Amino acid sequence: MGEPHPGRVVIGEPELRGRIAELGQAIARDYAGREPVLVGVLQGAFMFMADLVRTIPIDLATDFISLSSYEAGTRSSGRVRLVSDLSIPIADRHVLIVEDIVDTGLTLAHLKKNLEARRPKSVRACVLADKAERRQVEITLDYVGFTIPDVYVVGYGFDYGGLYRNLPYVAALEGA
Ligand code: PRP
Repeated sequence: MGEPHPGRVVIGEPELRGRIAELGQAIARDYAGREPVLVGVLQGAFMFMADLVRTIPIDLATDFISLSSYEAGTRSSGRVRLVSDLSIPIADRHVLIVEDIVDTGLTLAHLKKNLEARRPKSVRACVLADKAERRQVEITLDYVGFTIPDVYVVGYGFDYGGLYRNLPYVAALEGA
């Protein structure tokens, strides 16, 4: 036991690479000629976003929005805080939200509503990890990398107390 630490690998590097390439192909096919804006949700999605866009060989724009709902805890507070906003207007653009994880769904539901109010042509969501069994609000996920069980994960963008985002794979947090 001792301090919480990364343990068992939940999604390994080859699995991440393979699945992200498949998502990228699907997105490229669906958005060809539409110049979508991919909106990465900071902080967690920074690594997924960087790897995903490299697999999408079409014209697209990238931007980031920073939200925080978990603060320092391991459970959703239910309150979503806008830490920093997009840097470009998205009116009349096709927007694809890139999220690392959907748990209760509160963050994504809040974000979709916020972005839809800016009159984009469309808003869809691409999520690396779906903790489907934890959902509290109904939400459509257009692209899903992996459905994962209700375990606290760290690595590949996921943190515990600000640590472990830099691991190149997703692991279960042990000893918490
Ligand atoms: C995480 C994650 C999602 C949200 C999902 O963000 O990146 O945005 O929680 O949870 P929900 O579906 O229950 O709302 P977090 O607040 O941990 O911030 P981070 O991305 O900076 O780690």
